Amino acid sequence: MPIYHKLGKIPHKRHTQFEKPNGGLYYEQLFGTIGFDGMSSLSYHVHRPTQVKEIGKAIDVSPKIAVEKNITSRKLIGFDVQPKDDFLEAHEPLLVNNDVHIGLAAPKKSITDYFYKNADADEMLFIHKGSGTLKTFLGNIPFEYGDYLIIPRGMIYQIEFDTEDNRILYAESFHPIYTPKRYRNWFGQLLEHSPYCERDYKLPQDLQTFDEKGEFLMKIKKQGMLHELVYASHPFDVIGWDGYNFPYGFSIHNFEPITGRVHQPPPVHQTFETSAFVICSFCPRLYDYHPKAIPAPYNHSNIDSDEVLYYVDGDFMSRTGIGPGYISLHPAGIPHGPHPGTYEASIGKKSTEELAVMIDTFKPLKITENALKIDDGKYYKSWLE
Ligand SMILES: [Fe+2]
Repeated sequence: MPIYHKLGKIPHKRHTQFEKPNGGLYYEQLFGTIGFDGMSSLSYHVHRPTQVKEIGKAIDVSPKIAVEKNITSRKLIGFDVQPKDDFLEAHEPLLVNNDVHIGLAAPKKSITDYFYKNADADEMLFIHKGSGTLKTFLGNIPFEYGDYLIIPRGMIYQIEFDTEDNRILYAESFHPIYTPKRYRNWFGQLLEHSPYCERDYKLPQDLQTFDEKGEFLMKIKKQGMLHELVYASHPFDVIGWDGYNFPYGFSIHNFEPITGRVHQPPPVHQTFETSAFVICSFCPRLYDYHPKAIPAPYNHSNIDSDEVLYYVDGDFMSRTGIGPGYISLHPAGIPHGPHPGTYEASIGKKSTEELAVMIDTFKPLKITENALKIDDGKYYKSWLE
């Protein structure tokens, strides 16, 4: 997160004595990434954040691969993923490789009786349905339809939903998720040509400090296992923090589309970047305005990247037979393009209401058993005339 933020009370000088009102010291924690070179925050805890009381069971939650090497274009019916009560159990990994796990979740219940931490991956949660509050040890972020929540690895969190009707697209990224470097100047500030700016971020707020001792269950995802650890103090016991490493939200509805006289390439839609994949937002926008423009995209061979499109809302102009919650996978190695009829039909159209999230990976994706269950099985033939 390339801006500085702080909440609560912090001492004037880092690494110095920070006294509690009734005696004793707060416990400082450096919460950093990439060794000591990446973004970091300094947090001040009522209790030591290291007090492990018990280590319980560990369960294997690694994705079950059905197709290791894929060349088939696929359409997944995302809303066929069945809702489940528990947030973590609801996660269904669909398309995965060593860099990222892409999946869907339809959790019904809030997390109330445990805390969660993903030790390996930054998480991107895209909220398709539902609203609520992401609660973390660095503060809370209210969320709603259309929000991206970026949760850097190691953040301890709970999620609170307002209703049971929730649909989430998620990406667990084993590389840090950043805003695209080309949108930022050398100080980190978002430039004028960036499709969004710092005002659009949803930063953590309402830091709550729980001074409680007892037994607090934390589920920690690491190396494909979900470990259960019991801590002796409440994980949300931070009295204050500052720094650059924290979760934040950004609404897809605040992404300002870049348009042109002729068809603009996918990078204009880029929203986030990692060293192994990009995340793009396709938002309602005006179409190309050259008198001979063809608004639908040309056929294209993303010869060395897999393309995952998650359809959120509106009518997706270059596809037929697509509904909200569907995922299309166009694998590296073969071209894809508009469906028959859509190329010609797009001519003369002035605007689109389409809303979609695209994830393009630089390494091929594997197909999980969960994905095959919601695969329509015939999409790869959908370009036949
Ligand atoms: Fe494409």
